[in-house]
Amino acid sequence: MDKLIIEGGHPLRGQISISGAKNASLVLMPAALLANGVSVFRNTPELNDVYTMIKIMKHLGAEVNFSDHVISIDTSVLTSMEAPYELVKKMRASFYVLGPLLAKYGYAKVSLPGGCAWGPRPINLHLEGLKKLGAEIELDAGYIIARSRKLVGAKINFDKSSVGATGNVLMAAVLAKGTTVINNAAMEPEITNLTHFLNKMGARISGIETPILTIEGVDELKPAEIETIPDRIEAGTLMIAAAMTRGSVTFTNIRDNHLIAVLARLEDAGAKVLNQNGLVMVSLDNSDIIPSDVTTSIFPGFPTDMQAQWIAYMSTAFGTSTITDTIYLDRFAHVPEINRLGADITVKENSAIVRGVPKLNGAKVMSTDLRASASLVLAGLIAEGTTEVLRVYHLDRGYEKLEEKLNSLGARIQRVAGSEY
Ligand code: EPU
Repeated sequence: MDKLIIEGGHPLRGQISISGAKNASLVLMPAALLANGVSVFRNTPELNDVYTMIKIMKHLGAEVNFSDHVISIDTSVLTSMEAPYELVKKMRASFYVLGPLLAKYGYAKVSLPGGCAWGPRPINLHLEGLKKLGAEIELDAGYIIARSRKLVGAKINFDKSSVGATGNVLMAAVLAKGTTVINNAAMEPEITNLTHFLNKMGARISGIETPILTIEGVDELKPAEIETIPDRIEAGTLMIAAAMTRGSVTFTNIRDNHLIAVLARLEDAGAKVLNQNGLVMVSLDNSDIIPSDVTTSIFPGFPTDMQAQWIAYMSTAFGTSTITDTIYLDRFAHVPEINRLGADITVKENSAIVRGVPKLNGAKVMSTDLRASASLVLAGLIAEGTTEVLRVYHLDRGYEKLEEKLNSLGARIQRVAGSEY
């Protein structure tokens, strides 16, 4: 468990390329299981959740090669239909192998993901959707066992928009007999990336980028190749870093249409956003940060995965702002830690009330999840003195070399390896 030591007070300047999206890779890789042969994913980020998914693929018997951000997965011979507890407990996205294994092989055994650092993360919608397609599902000793002779298309109305349930059900429906309609499907860009990949494999999905996906099942899919979309959460995190430190950063390999809500809020909060020829530049001079309320929602709204970072940003705004999370009501473990740096934030129900303070002061802080860690790094970048962020393994799950990227822009962050942090 490494720690990061951050010397605050250095403005970020320069140009940075955004890595491939973690949450797109994690849903694209399991889709390879739907065909026999070698599928290829370009622009895959090198981060620990991707390595965990590689372990799962290998556990199933797939051959995986990963070099220079290109991952190839050969699913010609699978030897297991089971995702074990040891791997699923590390990463909930392991659950994505359920839909494709069931659809292609008629059987899957996947450990039930447990709770997570910020409370319950149910999978009822995944299971209800698969049942609608004809799967028989039982829970045995902590494992979901799903069986089906042949899935049959159905109309699925999700009560709630869910990225994971949409991905899992979509990957099952592509090989079902007949037509499936998913109402209230997630429209997150990572799901759109998946639909494009599935169609390249020979699936027949329409309604892409809308909340109603129609899937005409096919008998067989073939392996395919796709480019992973850029990571909108990494981009948003680095944009806040640019503004918070009163710097100026140009972003390449970025899709501005995936960041509409974040860019709008950044402008509301006083940052300058220039968006030209596929590049986005974010800067903020020495004027005050304007308090800006944010309420998270499904895409294209403000992402819950940017909530912690926004709270860090607002911690030194000139006035009070309210940040409300409607997706994960308890996702506020970062608040007491940012307060250790001198911020004045209180949590009431699913909102954080952030009273801006003139400055933060360095301290030791500890994170409990990925985006919480990112918010602490952001706070450390502007805190006076030195901030130590412990338990950086959370950060390493989901950001590709974050401190190296920040340092290339002028930050002063040192990683210290060790088991005691
Ligand atoms: N939900 C249910 N039942 C379900 C599934 C979800 O009630 O069966 C609820 C959840 O409790 C939540 C809402 O639906 O209130 C949305 O959850 P969703 O299923 O969309 O989340 P997820 O698929 O488990 C993905 C990302 C998360 C991100 C959420 C929301 C991946 C691997 N994970 O999770 O990313 O926060 O969508 O956008 O794609 C992260 O990267 O830090 C991260 C947590």
